[in-house]
Amino acid sequence: MQINDKSGIQSYTPNPQRYGDMSYRRCGNSGIQLPLISLGLWHNFGHADDLLKGQQILRKAFDLGIVHFDLANNYGPPYGSAETNFGRLFRDDFVPYRDELFISSKAGYDMWPGPYGNLGSRKYLVSSLDQSLQRMNLDYVDLFYHHRPDPDTPLEETMQALDFIVRSGRALYVGISNYPAELAKKAIGILNELGTPCLIHQARYNMFDRWVEDGLLDVLGDSGVGCIAFSPLAQGMLSDKYLNGIPEGSRAAKSMTYLEKETVASQLGKIKKLHSIAKEREQTLSEMAISWLLKDQRVTSVLVGVSSVQQLEKNAHSLTNLKFSNKEVAEIENALR
Ligand SMILES: NC(=O)c1ccc[n+]([C@@H]2O[C@H](COP(=O)([O-])OP(=O)(O)OC[C@H]3O[C@@H](n4cnc5c(N)ncnc54)[C@H](OP(=O)(O)O)[C@@H]3O)[C@@H](O)[C@H]2O)c1
Repeated sequence: MQINDKSGIQSYTPNPQRYGDMSYRRCGNSGIQLPLISLGLWHNFGHADDLLKGQQILRKAFDLGIVHFDLANNYGPPYGSAETNFGRLFRDDFVPYRDELFISSKAGYDMWPGPYGNLGSRKYLVSSLDQSLQRMNLDYVDLFYHHRPDPDTPLEETMQALDFIVRSGRALYVGISNYPAELAKKAIGILNELGTPCLIHQARYNMFDRWVEDGLLDVLGDSGVGCIAFSPLAQGMLSDKYLNGIPEGSRAAKSMTYLEKETVASQLGKIKKLHSIAKEREQTLSEMAISWLLKDQRVTSVLVGVSSVQQLEKNAHSLTNLKFSNKEVAEIENALR
């Protein structure tokens, strides 16, 4: 990412109509509402990426009323670089709008060597968040997540660390990510006892990966905890991008990503069937994939990643058609079988 050359960049004046078209949904039983579409910086914001494009994406997001930006300590590559680049762009464009933004970060995956840079100890979570705040030029994050369960650290210690993080002013809310249903229930119970309720669970949820329907959404719905669905397009497979092969520059074509060409090939039959159903709805497949997630009111927001401003605009356009007939739902179920 070229971070030194900013010549020719216009200063940013946000769209005064930015709250006109976006809808916001309440996150569980909390006071927080999130935009139906949120923006994740897992890919496309590392040092290998184009900072100017990243800047355009963030500006367009805010202009569309997408006020929730999601990061993690290890987003990049290299690790930490998405937060560093976000910090630079935040300082240039968003400082006056800090109170309009809901910014999250996470820790839970391997971040630095040795026993204190991974998993779920209090030592790791607190020091990692301190590093994230420094990289992002922030005094606090709105939301801090434990990124994945740690089988060895007592759940109580991890939840006490989240409680401490809120009480010490480093985060306003906490959440969990990738926790299976039963463990999520326990974590939510411990956080309630500590007096720092769990705001939200961040889980992979898309037409190809529906594990959350097997208990987790019920736990969250019953506990008044929100759900934000990550990888809603199955990393781009749920779009028309791969209908005719693997385009150059796409996530499946790149190295150092988590989308294999073989995975795309194995899903192609379903992608084609879903593409036809979307066409009948006068939507693109990516639009239908996002709308389909939002028909469940327990899903607070859909967390997209984009490699261009155009993709973000298209994804936001999904919100113009959120209704599904029973027939369409059944056709989608058939296509996914
Ligand atoms: N908690 C966790 O463990 C976890 C794990 C993964 C992700 N996340 C979060 O979820 C966010 C989103 O994940 P994700 O990037 O996998 O989401 P995704 O929306 O499923 O995939 C994003 C990719 O899909 C393609 N795409 C997006 N919009 C498109 C459109 N309209 N038409 C065609 N292709 C389109 C782009 O791929 P190309 O690059 O090929 O253009 C884009 O990079 C992350 O940034 C992160 O914040 C969290």
